[in-house]
Order: sequence, then C-alpha cells, then structure tokens
Amino acid sequence: MKKTVSFLVSGRGSNFHAVAEAIIKGEIPATVGIVISDKPGVKALDIARELSIPAFFVNPKEYPTRQDHEKAMADLLKKYHTDLVVTAGYMRLLTPYFVNEFKNRIINIHPALLPSFPGTHAQKQALDYGVKISGCTTHFIDEGTDSGPIILQKAVPVYDDDTEDTLSARILKEEHQILIESVKLFCQDKLKVNGRKVLIVR
Ligand code: GAR
Repeated sequence: MKKTVSFLVSGRGSNFHAVAEAIIKGEIPATVGIVISDKPGVKALDIARELSIPAFFVNPKEYPTRQDHEKAMADLLKKYHTDLVVTAGYMRLLTPYFVNEFKNRIINIHPALLPSFPGTHAQKQALDYGVKISGCTTHFIDEGTDSGPIILQKAVPVYDDDTEDTLSARILKEEHQILIESVKLFCQDKLKVNGRKVLIVR
C-alpha cells in the first residue's frame, strides 16, 4: 500500500513543494497527507492550499509545553494516516516524545554536510569557517540536533566570492534532489536503519 507523507514547515516551503510535486506527478509512489506550520501566513501554507493539500497552522503559543504542541501535531498527523513526516525547513527542535511517536519515520533536510555545521544558519557557518566544499544532508531525526542517521548527502563547491545567498541557492537546488530521492527510497521500503547507518537496499 502507498505510504502517506506529511510535512512540518516554518516558512518558504520550497523543499515541501519539490517533494509534493514529485508525489503528485507520480515520481514518488506515495500519497500527500497534510502540511503543518508553526508560523502563520507563511508561503508554504499558500503552496499547500494551491495544491489542495490540507494545511494547518498549529500555534506553539497556544500550548503550555513543547510536548503539548507536538501532541497536537502528532494527533493531526495520525488522523491523516501519516507514515512519514518530512521536516522541510521546520525551525523548531523536536522533543523525544515526538521523535518516539514517529521513530525512524521523520526525515529532515539540512543545508550542510553533517556532522559539520548543525543548527541554524548552516550556510553562514560554512562560509565563516572557510570550507571549500559544503552541501546538504538528509537524515532521520533522533533526539539530538541534526545528529540522526544519514540517508543521503550531496556536496557543492564554495567559491571565494560566495555570499550566504549565493551559497544557499547552490545548496538548495541539491536539497530538493536529495530530499525527493530520500522520500522515494523510504516510500519504496528501501531504507534500513542499522544503528548509525542507513542501508539503501537496491
Ligand atoms: C532549507 O535550506 C533547509 O535546508 C533549511 O531551511 C531552508 C528551508 O527552505 N533548514 C534548516 O536550516 C534546518 N536546520 P524551504 O522552506 O524553502 O524548504
């Protein structure tokens, strides 16, 4: 049976858009579930509505604890029979509660070659450090910050005249590709998590 893929977002939503389109076009054997944002009025929610995907703003300020907020999100995700959660530019750390509810079923996209430059502003961290190569990583979310088992990575060059914007744009193109590929592999049951390693069953 086809898996249902839902998304957590906080902003622009280009990664969500790329994956949702790949599902809609039949390039990924899956069904799109829902989109949940922790911010109101963001572009990702507009894209979801344009694509007729159920879209929700779940306001963290309305809940006494982080876990209560996540419980509200988990309830919605389950109501829509979500098999895989994709955190696509979701800028909030998930608690162990949520990670365990969807154990090895949350894929994150990060704009650096992990374990280098975790957390926020990864592209600026890479530029400030002076690396010659950066890139992006998809990984399953565990209880740490960007520390879960790595699925795919793609490297891009860093040029002397790069700004945060030019480097981010070069990385973003590759993010869309490896996120689509990672979700596809998951939906084809081709990802096996073995400790820190993700084996791709071909
Ligand atoms: C992407 O570059 C994503 O990798 C990054 O935020 C951007 C969201 O763009 N995520 C993180 O930095 C998470 N730590 P998008 O909303 O257009 O997909």
